[in-house]
Amino acid sequence: MGQYAQEINKRRTFAIISHPDAGKTTLTEKFLLYGGAINLAGSVKGKATARHAVSDWMEIEKERGISVTSSVLQFEYDGYCINILDTPGHQDFSEDTYRTLMAADSAVMVIDASKGVEAQTRKLFKVCGMRGIPIFTFINKMDREANDTFELLDEIEKELGIATCPVNWPIGCGKNFKGVYDRQKNCIITYSDTEKGTKEGVAETISFEDEAGLISHVGEDNLSILKDEIELLDGASAEFDIASIRKGKLTPVFFGSALTNFGVEFFLQHFLQMATTPLPRKADIGMIDPVENDFSAFVFKIQANMNKAHRDRIAFMRICSGKFDANMEIKHVQGNKVMRLSQPQQIMASERKILDEAYAGDIIGVFDPGIFSIGDTICMPKAQFQYEGIPTFAPEHFARVRQMDTMKRKQFVKGINQIAQEGAIQIFQEYNTGLEEIIVGVVGVLQFDVLKYRLENEYNVEIRLEPLPYEHIRWITSSDTDLDHIVGTSDMKKVKDLKGNPLLLFINAWSVGMTLDRNKGLELSEFGKQ
Ligand code: G4P
Repeated sequence: MGQYAQEINKRRTFAIISHPDAGKTTLTEKFLLYGGAINLAGSVKGKATARHAVSDWMEIEKERGISVTSSVLQFEYDGYCINILDTPGHQDFSEDTYRTLMAADSAVMVIDASKGVEAQTRKLFKVCGMRGIPIFTFINKMDREANDTFELLDEIEKELGIATCPVNWPIGCGKNFKGVYDRQKNCIITYSDTEKGTKEGVAETISFEDEAGLISHVGEDNLSILKDEIELLDGASAEFDIASIRKGKLTPVFFGSALTNFGVEFFLQHFLQMATTPLPRKADIGMIDPVENDFSAFVFKIQANMNKAHRDRIAFMRICSGKFDANMEIKHVQGNKVMRLSQPQQIMASERKILDEAYAGDIIGVFDPGIFSIGDTICMPKAQFQYEGIPTFAPEHFARVRQMDTMKRKQFVKGINQIAQEGAIQIFQEYNTGLEEIIVGVVGVLQFDVLKYRLENEYNVEIRLEPLPYEHIRWITSSDTDLDHIVGTSDMKKVKDLKGNPLLLFINAWSVGMTLDRNKGLELSEFGKQ
């Protein structure tokens, strides 16, 4: 054991979290440029048109020009093997976006300097926070007018509850953007617009001792402001502390401009040094070490219908330990079955390639004949353990499902249950009303479309979705709570999930607090146990 340490330890597996338009795609493209994975940034995932090429797995994707699935990008840089997990945004935001974060060892948070912390970042951050993974902040678009730097940091600290530690500091912004001050090396790196595709910047590094050089590059006024800010910063900001960073308590902050490729390589280099190697993962027998243990993995996402002709499903697995070899026999723990994984492949942005081997930290997609569920463990035939499940994330949109043709009740029930079991939607039933109506809950509204589409195409059942006003769902975590006796607010609704667990739905957040106040000992959670 431990023989694959070198391969495993060079891996860095992370997700990029951001609000749409903050620059996630642009930053990813620039990363790939440094990794030599592409020649010219922009050719990998240049918005709508290129996204068609990325995947035509579902008609719905083609129709809308968005990707329902999150892809994985792998590339090498400076001796590291980097896996970037894509977290879709916009209208393609779904529960899968959250699940992807369960497979990442760290997260890069991209913030638009003129917008600060936005809604989607806040949601994704919450999931990262729950896992306690390290978070690295890239404040983007410094080439445009930006909010006050101290205010941006303050906002991150207050809104997200994480301490900040700037690694570099911007000098001006927008038309007056002059570069960044490197706090570790005590020098400035001058801004140069390297124009979208090339990686050869003409940025210059000037020591902080070189007063004349500084003045000639940034100007006297900017320098004087910078000096004041550094002084303030040294007094006020948290100390750089790698242990706190690794625990997700402190986020190193970097400033740059992804579009003009400024500060991207600086970020990448520092990030790779600070980010962790593949992390140990919790199983029922304790922590499983990535290097010391044989192959093991868990399923974090299932993508149905990638190929309509075959109606196949792909199970995405995160390898947690050891080496995966395409020919080896493995055990699917939940199915209690020893088998070979069928057509293991790496899902790249532009292609899928069949792979022979992969290591802890990597993501593989395997053909799933319908046996895997989200959270399942895969390990060596002799191993005896199971990874902790993936939580169910709180849906934020609800709808009542109406069947158009009541004669097809059987197909409908079968279809909706199967789709829910795959984790594509969550379904709930009225609590104790005797009604057979089904309520669907989703994290992103696109999931409604996927449900409708799949029921029609795979089960030949037409449905109508009637939106419900609920936005907040809470699982009841206190063990001695009797649902019948909960005194709620007038907008509260009691439901149960697939497993019969009781849940509460609310229209507004205020009611959640009110219900907690009214019921002593009641404990509610935003995450459901799988
Ligand atoms: P996303 O994946 O987070 O949604 O954002 P994306 O990278 O697609 O960037 C959103 C918009 O912001 C794009 O412009 C992109 O060019 C721009 N952008 C990204 N980084 C920077 C930056 O550092 N500075 C400036 N000034 N702009 C940046 P767009 O016009 O919406 O799209 P496009 O037509 O350029 O692709």
